[in-house]
Amino acid sequence: MSKIDRKFVDAFGQSPDIVAAAPGRVNLIGEHIDYSDGFVLPFAIADRTYAAIRKRPDRLVRIASAQRRNKIVSIQLDDIKPGLKGEWERYPLGVIWAMGVKQGLDVMIDGHVPLGAGLSSSAALECSVATALNDLFSFGYDLQSLARLTQKAENDYVGVPCGIMDQSVSLMAHSGSALLLDCRDLTSRYVSFDVASSGLELLIIDTQAHHSLTDGGYAQRRQSCESAIKKLGVQSMRELSFEKLNTSKDLLTDIEFIRARHAVSEIARVHSAVSALEAKNFVELGSLLNASHGSLRDDYDVSCPELNCAVDASISAGALGARMVGGGFGGSAIALIKASATIDTIHHVENTFKKLSFKAPRFFTSLPSQGAEIMQRG
Ligand code: GLA
Repeated sequence: MSKIDRKFVDAFGQSPDIVAAAPGRVNLIGEHIDYSDGFVLPFAIADRTYAAIRKRPDRLVRIASAQRRNKIVSIQLDDIKPGLKGEWERYPLGVIWAMGVKQGLDVMIDGHVPLGAGLSSSAALECSVATALNDLFSFGYDLQSLARLTQKAENDYVGVPCGIMDQSVSLMAHSGSALLLDCRDLTSRYVSFDVASSGLELLIIDTQAHHSLTDGGYAQRRQSCESAIKKLGVQSMRELSFEKLNTSKDLLTDIEFIRARHAVSEIARVHSAVSALEAKNFVELGSLLNASHGSLRDDYDVSCPELNCAVDASISAGALGARMVGGGFGGSAIALIKASATIDTIHHVENTFKKLSFKAPRFFTSLPSQGAEIMQRG
């Protein structure tokens, strides 16, 4: 466990009342459909962010981060309002705002989820703070409510129009399983995800290409989906069949049509992936990953040269399947590979990146891990 206690004492001179941790995530399949009432199949990675918090007797909020040399940001509780300028501290402040905290706090953050890699470091940060505050103030929120509150913090306070997947899995994940999440009502089911016993490995490739959901591309995709469902008179992409989409093509712009085609096909792929996992049919799972990537690259247009290179190079090194994960425009890809081929795959991806003069990628593997937890009280 991270030495967050000591860091807290160094910054604030006292011990924390509570320490919570929440993980980043990888999404196995079900990309860009959480905000369309779809189904997703993410799992939590082992890397997590820690939040240590102590109540203060006044209304001052002080926040420090071990990754920012403990620089302390101070703000009065009453001044915490959406639209405030700032950096990373807007995420914990957004959670404090969304949860309606009425008392001052000292907060220390120690984040170990790679930043900007499409592995949801922001959800890990929000969920670690929310889990700690929920316990510290005995708010009694269930995990679904915490997911909605942390999403609200990111949407309305930070101003990032993300869906509900990242926060949900960071809060609800179980080790050894992927989370089949219904993004409409946040009901879920755990699907055992054990590739190791079949001699496989899920390689995570951080392309180190820039990733940001605030550049407008993400919001535009959401808008195309919203305008498509309005024109087609359905509640969400989930109520849309291929048949209806194809017969109503003339009602949509070309862009709306292909964005909707991604959403409808991706929802179907999630259900097929669950069946493939349950049957331990990893060849089928691999081809679903490939199809998902093709759809994100061609119909949804959220991939980028580095992500396509990571996927193509993994497949030419023998991967069963590979795809970009997360919001796209950079960030990470995953590749389902034979465990015995890990080193060769890494070398092949590295060499291909070098030939194309891309920044050197980083590689991780992670077993499906536990969601947010209280690590220590008092
Ligand atoms: C980001 C968002 C999620 C989801 C993914 C794409 O990670 O935060 O809500 O929309 O992109 O699947």
